[in-house]
Amino acid sequence: MTQAQSTSRSEGISLRQMLPGAIAGTTSLAGPIAESQPGRNIKTPHYLTAHYWWAYVHPRAIWIFERQWLVNLILWGNYPRLRNAAMAELGDVLPGTTLQVACVYGDLTGELSSRVAAGGGRLDIVDVLPLQLENLRNKLPSGAPARLLAMDSAELKLADASYDRALLFFLLHEQPAAHRERTLSEVFRVVRPGGEIVIVDYALPRRWHPLRYLWRPLLAALEPFALDLWRDEIVRWLPAAARTGWRKQSFFGGLYQKVVIKR
Ligand SMILES: C[S@@+](CC[C@H](N)C(=O)[O-])C[C@H]1O[C@@H](n2cnc3c(N)ncnc32)[C@H](O)[C@@H]1O
Repeated sequence: MTQAQSTSRSEGISLRQMLPGAIAGTTSLAGPIAESQPGRNIKTPHYLTAHYWWAYVHPRAIWIFERQWLVNLILWGNYPRLRNAAMAELGDVLPGTTLQVACVYGDLTGELSSRVAAGGGRLDIVDVLPLQLENLRNKLPSGAPARLLAMDSAELKLADASYDRALLFFLLHEQPAAHRERTLSEVFRVVRPGGEIVIVDYALPRRWHPLRYLWRPLLAALEPFALDLWRDEIVRWLPAAARTGWRKQSFFGGLYQKVVIKR
Protein backbone atom coordinates (compact mmCIF):
# COMPACT_ATOMS: atom_id res chain seq x y z
CA MET A 1 0.00 0.00 0.00
CA THR A 2 1.40 3.43 -0.89
CA GLN A 3 1.75 6.18 1.68
CA ALA A 4 -1.09 8.11 0.03
CA GLN A 5 -3.37 5.10 0.27
CA SER A 6 -2.59 4.42 3.88
CA THR A 7 -3.21 8.09 4.69
CA SER A 8 -6.57 7.91 2.99
CA ARG A 9 -7.70 4.90 4.95
CA SER A 10 -6.63 6.19 8.31
CA GLU A 11 -7.25 9.94 8.15
CA GLY A 12 -9.77 10.52 5.39
CA ILE A 13 -8.80 11.65 1.95
CA SER A 14 -7.72 14.51 -0.13
CA LEU A 15 -8.70 13.39 -3.58
CA ARG A 16 -7.04 16.30 -5.25
CA GLN A 17 -3.79 14.91 -3.85
CA MET A 18 -4.58 11.31 -4.48
CA LEU A 19 -6.14 11.52 -7.90
CA PRO A 20 -4.72 14.58 -9.56
CA GLY A 21 -6.60 15.16 -12.77
CA ALA A 22 -9.60 13.10 -11.75
CA ILE A 23 -12.88 14.78 -10.97
CA ALA A 24 -12.96 15.53 -7.31
CA GLY A 25 -15.48 18.23 -6.49
CA THR A 26 -14.73 18.30 -2.81
CA THR A 27 -17.67 20.16 -1.34
CA SER A 28 -20.06 22.08 -3.54
CA LEU A 29 -20.74 21.55 -7.18
CA ALA A 30 -21.16 25.27 -7.62
CA GLY A 31 -17.39 25.70 -7.49
CA PRO A 32 -14.95 24.86 -10.22
CA ILE A 33 -14.45 21.23 -10.93
CA ALA A 34 -11.03 19.69 -11.39
CA GLU A 35 -10.22 18.85 -14.98
CA SER A 36 -11.36 15.51 -16.29
CA GLN A 37 -8.72 13.38 -17.93
CA PRO A 38 -10.41 10.06 -18.50
CA GLY A 39 -8.21 7.07 -18.10
CA ARG A 40 -5.05 8.89 -17.08
CA ASN A 41 -5.10 8.43 -13.36
CA ILE A 42 -7.64 5.73 -12.80
CA LYS A 43 -7.69 2.45 -14.60
CA THR A 44 -10.94 1.61 -16.38
CA PRO A 45 -11.83 -1.99 -15.54
CA HIS A 46 -11.56 -4.35 -18.49
CA TYR A 47 -15.22 -5.40 -18.32
CA LEU A 48 -16.33 -1.82 -18.97
CA THR A 49 -14.27 -1.36 -22.11
CA ALA A 50 -14.96 -4.89 -23.32
CA HIS A 51 -18.72 -5.10 -22.65
CA TYR A 52 -20.08 -1.66 -21.71
CA TRP A 53 -18.17 0.69 -24.02
CA TRP A 54 -21.42 1.43 -25.85
CA ALA A 55 -23.31 2.32 -22.66
CA TYR A 56 -20.80 4.33 -20.59
CA VAL A 57 -17.31 4.61 -22.06
CA HIS A 58 -17.88 5.89 -25.61
CA PRO A 59 -18.13 9.72 -25.69
CA ARG A 60 -21.52 9.48 -27.49
CA ALA A 61 -22.94 7.06 -24.90
CA ILE A 62 -24.13 9.82 -22.62
CA TRP A 63 -25.74 11.70 -25.48
CA ILE A 64 -27.70 8.56 -26.33
CA PHE A 65 -28.59 7.18 -22.92
CA GLU A 66 -29.06 10.24 -20.73
CA ARG A 67 -32.79 10.35 -21.38
CA GLN A 68 -35.28 9.54 -18.67
CA TRP A 69 -37.71 7.83 -21.07
CA LEU A 70 -34.95 5.61 -22.50
CA VAL A 71 -33.59 4.37 -19.17
CA ASN A 72 -37.17 3.82 -18.10
CA LEU A 73 -37.82 1.80 -21.26
CA ILE A 74 -34.71 -0.33 -20.64
CA LEU A 75 -36.17 -1.14 -17.22
CA TRP A 76 -39.55 -2.00 -18.77
CA GLY A 77 -41.16 1.10 -17.28
CA ASN A 78 -39.91 0.35 -13.78
CA TYR A 79 -37.36 3.14 -13.32
CA PRO A 80 -39.62 5.39 -11.16
CA ARG A 81 -40.79 2.46 -9.10
CA LEU A 82 -37.28 1.15 -8.44
CA ARG A 83 -35.88 4.61 -7.78
CA ASN A 84 -38.72 5.31 -5.35
CA ALA A 85 -38.22 1.96 -3.63
CA ALA A 86 -34.56 2.79 -3.06
CA MET A 87 -35.44 6.28 -1.81
CA ALA A 88 -38.18 4.99 0.48
CA GLU A 89 -35.68 2.62 2.03
CA LEU A 90 -33.10 5.34 2.60
CA GLY A 91 -35.58 7.92 3.92
CA ASP A 92 -37.06 11.32 3.06
CA VAL A 93 -34.44 13.27 4.92
CA LEU A 94 -30.85 12.10 4.97
CA PRO A 95 -28.54 13.65 7.53
CA GLY A 96 -24.99 12.38 7.96
CA THR A 97 -23.05 10.78 5.15
CA THR A 98 -24.48 9.00 2.12
CA LEU A 99 -22.50 7.13 -0.53
CA GLN A 100 -23.79 6.35 -4.01
CA VAL A 101 -21.58 3.78 -5.69
CA ALA A 102 -21.60 4.45 -9.46
CA CYS A 103 -23.47 7.05 -11.47
CA VAL A 104 -26.88 6.29 -12.92
CA TYR A 105 -28.59 7.74 -15.97
CA GLY A 106 -31.85 9.51 -15.17
CA ASP A 107 -32.93 11.48 -12.13
CA LEU A 108 -32.05 9.11 -9.28
CA THR A 109 -29.05 11.06 -7.98
CA GLY A 110 -30.93 14.36 -8.19
CA GLU A 111 -33.61 12.90 -5.94
CA LEU A 112 -31.03 11.46 -3.56
CA SER A 113 -29.18 14.76 -3.44
CA SER A 114 -32.38 16.68 -2.52
CA ARG A 115 -33.00 14.32 0.37
CA VAL A 116 -29.42 14.71 1.56
CA ALA A 117 -29.74 18.50 1.27
CA ALA A 118 -33.00 18.38 3.26
CA GLY A 119 -31.21 16.50 6.02
CA GLY A 120 -28.16 18.76 6.06
CA GLY A 121 -26.06 15.74 5.10
CA ARG A 122 -23.30 15.09 2.60
CA LEU A 123 -23.45 12.90 -0.49
CA ASP A 124 -20.44 11.27 -2.14
CA ILE A 125 -20.82 9.66 -5.55
CA VAL A 126 -18.02 7.48 -6.85
CA ASP A 127 -17.58 6.35 -10.42
CA VAL A 128 -14.62 4.92 -12.26
CA LEU A 129 -15.32 6.95 -15.43
CA PRO A 130 -14.62 10.68 -15.15
CA LEU A 131 -16.94 11.41 -18.09
CA GLN A 132 -19.83 9.88 -16.18
CA LEU A 133 -19.03 12.07 -13.19
CA GLU A 134 -18.88 15.08 -15.44
CA ASN A 135 -22.30 14.20 -16.83
CA LEU A 136 -23.64 13.88 -13.30
CA ARG A 137 -22.17 17.22 -12.36
CA ASN A 138 -24.16 18.79 -15.19
CA LYS A 139 -27.35 17.16 -13.92
CA LEU A 140 -27.07 18.22 -10.28
CA PRO A 141 -28.12 21.70 -9.19
CA SER A 142 -25.31 24.04 -8.31
CA GLY A 143 -24.73 24.00 -4.58
CA ALA A 144 -25.82 20.38 -4.19
CA PRO A 145 -24.09 18.91 -1.12
CA ALA A 146 -22.28 16.37 -3.25
CA ARG A 147 -18.73 15.32 -3.98
CA LEU A 148 -17.94 13.46 -7.18
CA LEU A 149 -15.11 11.03 -6.70
CA ALA A 150 -13.28 9.14 -9.42
CA MET A 151 -12.64 5.70 -7.98
CA ASP A 152 -13.11 2.04 -8.67
CA SER A 153 -15.85 0.57 -6.49
CA ALA A 154 -13.57 -2.38 -5.83
CA GLU A 155 -10.89 -0.14 -4.36
CA LEU A 156 -12.52 2.72 -2.51
CA LYS A 157 -10.08 5.30 -1.25
CA LEU A 158 -12.44 6.05 1.61
CA ALA A 159 -12.06 5.65 5.34
CA ASP A 160 -13.51 2.67 7.22
CA ALA A 161 -16.99 3.17 8.70
CA SER A 162 -17.26 6.69 7.29
CA TYR A 163 -20.79 6.47 5.80
CA ASP A 164 -24.21 6.08 7.38
CA ARG A 165 -25.62 4.47 4.26
CA ALA A 166 -24.76 3.41 0.73
CA LEU A 167 -26.75 2.88 -2.46
CA LEU A 168 -25.83 0.65 -5.41
CA PHE A 169 -28.31 0.97 -8.27
CA PHE A 170 -27.81 -1.54 -11.09
CA LEU A 171 -24.06 -1.76 -10.66
CA LEU A 172 -23.45 -5.31 -9.47
CA HIS A 173 -24.88 -7.09 -12.51
CA GLU A 174 -22.31 -5.34 -14.68
CA GLN A 175 -19.34 -6.65 -12.77
CA PRO A 176 -17.58 -9.99 -13.06
CA ALA A 177 -17.94 -12.02 -9.86
CA ALA A 178 -14.51 -11.20 -8.44
CA HIS A 179 -15.04 -7.47 -8.99
CA ARG A 180 -18.54 -7.67 -7.51
CA GLU A 181 -17.22 -9.41 -4.44
CA ARG A 182 -14.52 -6.75 -3.94
CA THR A 183 -17.10 -3.97 -4.43
CA LEU A 184 -19.38 -5.42 -1.77
CA SER A 185 -16.50 -5.95 0.59
CA GLU A 186 -15.39 -2.33 0.13
CA VAL A 187 -18.91 -0.98 0.61
CA PHE A 188 -19.28 -3.08 3.74
CA ARG A 189 -15.99 -1.67 5.00
CA VAL A 190 -16.86 2.02 4.48
CA VAL A 191 -20.41 1.87 5.91
CA ARG A 192 -20.43 2.15 9.68
CA PRO A 193 -21.79 -0.59 11.94
CA GLY A 194 -25.52 0.05 12.27
CA GLY A 195 -25.58 1.69 8.84
CA GLU A 196 -27.52 0.50 5.81
CA ILE A 197 -26.61 -0.73 2.33
CA VAL A 198 -29.37 -0.61 -0.30
CA ILE A 199 -28.92 -2.51 -3.55
CA VAL A 200 -31.30 -2.47 -6.52
CA ASP A 201 -30.53 -4.80 -9.40
CA TYR A 202 -31.66 -7.67 -11.61
CA ALA A 203 -32.90 -11.01 -10.25
CA LEU A 204 -34.43 -14.20 -11.61
CA PRO A 205 -37.99 -13.60 -12.87
CA ARG A 206 -40.73 -16.06 -11.91
CA ARG A 207 -41.39 -19.08 -14.11
CA TRP A 208 -44.51 -17.54 -15.66
CA HIS A 209 -42.72 -14.31 -16.58
CA PRO A 210 -42.23 -14.06 -20.37
CA LEU A 211 -39.05 -12.04 -19.82
CA ARG A 212 -37.52 -15.02 -18.06
CA TYR A 213 -37.22 -16.53 -21.54
CA LEU A 214 -37.10 -13.45 -23.77
CA TRP A 215 -34.68 -11.33 -21.74
CA ARG A 216 -32.17 -14.09 -20.98
CA PRO A 217 -30.51 -14.26 -24.40
CA LEU A 218 -30.38 -10.48 -24.65
CA LEU A 219 -28.81 -10.14 -21.22
CA ALA A 220 -26.39 -12.94 -21.97
CA ALA A 221 -25.31 -11.19 -25.16
CA LEU A 222 -25.17 -7.60 -23.91
CA GLU A 223 -24.48 -7.93 -20.20
CA PRO A 224 -22.55 -11.15 -19.77
CA PHE A 225 -22.30 -11.09 -15.96
CA ALA A 226 -25.92 -10.12 -15.29
CA LEU A 227 -27.20 -13.68 -15.28
CA ASP A 228 -25.07 -14.35 -12.19
CA LEU A 229 -27.80 -12.46 -10.33
CA TRP A 230 -30.41 -14.82 -11.80
CA ARG A 231 -28.52 -17.82 -10.51
CA ASP A 232 -27.55 -16.66 -7.04
CA GLU A 233 -28.66 -14.35 -4.26
CA ILE A 234 -26.63 -11.17 -3.99
CA VAL A 235 -25.55 -12.16 -0.48
CA ARG A 236 -23.41 -14.87 -2.05
CA TRP A 237 -20.88 -12.14 -2.93
CA LEU A 238 -21.05 -10.42 0.45
CA PRO A 239 -18.33 -10.83 3.07
CA ALA A 240 -19.30 -13.69 5.41
CA ALA A 241 -19.87 -11.24 8.29
CA ALA A 242 -22.55 -9.43 6.27
CA ARG A 243 -24.62 -12.45 5.32
CA THR A 244 -26.93 -12.46 8.30
CA GLY A 245 -28.78 -9.14 8.46
CA TRP A 246 -30.36 -8.75 5.04
CA ARG A 247 -33.76 -8.78 3.41
CA LYS A 248 -35.01 -8.79 -0.15
CA GLN A 249 -38.04 -7.42 -1.97
CA SER A 250 -38.96 -8.42 -5.52
CA PHE A 251 -40.44 -6.22 -8.24
CA PHE A 252 -42.02 -6.77 -11.64
CA GLY A 253 -42.48 -10.52 -11.35
CA GLY A 254 -39.05 -10.97 -9.81
CA LEU A 255 -37.00 -9.43 -12.64
CA TYR A 256 -35.79 -6.78 -10.20
CA GLN A 257 -34.85 -6.91 -6.55
CA LYS A 258 -34.05 -4.57 -3.74
CA VAL A 259 -31.71 -6.00 -1.12
CA VAL A 260 -31.18 -4.17 2.16
CA ILE A 261 -28.24 -5.06 4.35
CA LYS A 262 -27.98 -3.84 7.91
CA ARG A 263 -24.31 -3.35 8.66
C1 LIG B 1 -24.59 2.02 -12.02
S1 LIG B 1 -24.24 1.41 -13.51
C2 LIG B 1 -25.74 1.27 -14.41
C3 LIG B 1 -26.95 2.03 -14.02
C4 LIG B 1 -28.14 1.89 -14.91
N1 LIG B 1 -27.91 0.99 -16.02
C5 LIG B 1 -28.56 3.25 -15.40
O1 LIG B 1 -27.73 4.07 -15.75
O2 LIG B 1 -29.75 3.50 -15.37
C6 LIG B 1 -23.42 2.46 -14.53
C7 LIG B 1 -22.24 3.19 -13.93
O3 LIG B 1 -21.40 2.32 -13.21
C8 LIG B 1 -20.08 2.77 -13.38
N2 LIG B 1 -19.18 1.70 -12.98
C9 LIG B 1 -19.07 0.48 -13.53
N3 LIG B 1 -18.09 -0.23 -12.93
C10 LIG B 1 -17.60 0.58 -11.94
C11 LIG B 1 -16.59 0.42 -10.97
N4 LIG B 1 -15.88 -0.71 -10.89
N5 LIG B 1 -16.35 1.42 -10.12
C12 LIG B 1 -17.06 2.57 -10.19
N6 LIG B 1 -18.02 2.79 -11.11
C13 LIG B 1 -18.29 1.80 -11.98
C14 LIG B 1 -20.02 3.14 -14.83
O4 LIG B 1 -18.93 3.97 -15.12
C15 LIG B 1 -21.36 3.82 -15.03
O5 LIG B 1 -21.29 5.19 -14.82
